[in-house]
Amino acid sequence: MTMFQYCAPCLFGSEGILGDELRRMGAQNVRPQNGRVLFDGDAAVGARANLRSRYAERIQLLIGQFRALTFDELFEGVKALPWERIIGKEDRFPVKGWALQSALHSVPDCQSIIKKAVVERLRRTHRVSWFEETGTLYQIQFTILKNEVTLLIDMSGAGLHKRGYRRLSGGAPIKETLAAAMVDITRARLSPLVCDPCCGSGTLLIEAAMAAKRIAPGINRSFAAMSWPLFPYEIWSAEREAATADERKEQPFTAVGGDIDAAVLRLAKDNAAQAGVAAHTDFRLQDLRDFRPQGERGLVLCNPPYGERLLNIKDAQQIIRQLGRVFPTGCGWQYAVISPEEQFEELFGRPAKKRRKLYNGMLKCQLYLFD
Ligand SMILES: C[S@@+](CC[C@H](N)C(=O)[O-])C[C@H]1O[C@@H](n2cnc3c(N)ncnc32)[C@H](O)[C@@H]1O
Repeated sequence: MTMFQYCAPCLFGSEGILGDELRRMGAQNVRPQNGRVLFDGDAAVGARANLRSRYAERIQLLIGQFRALTFDELFEGVKALPWERIIGKEDRFPVKGWALQSALHSVPDCQSIIKKAVVERLRRTHRVSWFEETGTLYQIQFTILKNEVTLLIDMSGAGLHKRGYRRLSGGAPIKETLAAAMVDITRARLSPLVCDPCCGSGTLLIEAAMAAKRIAPGINRSFAAMSWPLFPYEIWSAEREAATADERKEQPFTAVGGDIDAAVLRLAKDNAAQAGVAAHTDFRLQDLRDFRPQGERGLVLCNPPYGERLLNIKDAQQIIRQLGRVFPTGCGWQYAVISPEEQFEELFGRPAKKRRKLYNGMLKCQLYLFD
């Protein structure tokens, strides 16, 4: 059985839950790092991670890592890697990447050196002088952080947050991978009722419903590596079958979303239908002021406006005050709100039971947990 090394980049703050998720999928030697998790496994593990990961931004083949301070070291380091095991004579292999806090900081220069080094290696190993690059796509990605170079080939194609259900979104949608992380941290899939009173296009509730029903996030989409000979069709179809067999079709789950924007609620309904969870979600035109927790137990997940893309800071702060008023204590309900607002707890009116740092893209947020 051929073993591969993989890399799964993720949002800062979700490395731990991604590492646990990959271990549950059979990944070995799982190494969470800042903003990514490295792991080992066979081809089936790579296909499974693409199909099933809720928190990874993408899955990449890890080709090699080394230290480089000069262009010569970069060239020689790249040339020493076994690219021919993956990239064929006819294949396309464009290069992109980023460099941070490193002696080699010019991305275009690094890009062209890496391309030259891969061409040089493949020329010798495949015994060809010119590459037409008309075949299968192998997108090479590099990262250079504190002079440590990592060479990768992307397996996913479109980012894994693109589950396929959200063709349309509201003005400030939360990323699916971040919503899924909130669902995991709050154990929302186990709650009898989950509400989001500022639900927008419904991402938090749809991710919670998909987790409760164990619907694989990638079940309705394709991946770049599906056309690679190293990852044959049978592996993908076996993994898809196994993922479908794992779904909990009968699992009861109820989610209720509210928003003041009727247009965005139509998107939420459409997205829930695309995700196959329409029967478990209910979206209503409702002002946050009128939100009341129903029943003895439940969980509120909420991503209120930040005052950046939606509303201004004052209005956004007013909404946080309002949240504090409509989320009562001592009634069996739990509340989880993600916000970048530093004064959140003062505005909300009481201290959080727990706080967890999570990044919404590059924006540092806290997930505030109350009960
Ligand atoms: C940051 S967006 C939520 C995005 C959502 N998580 C998604 O994935 O699309 C905040 C939402 O709060 C809604 N909103 C603003 N003021 C509100 C209020 N007073 N009552 C209910 N919803 C409100 C906005 O219409 C917007 O859809």
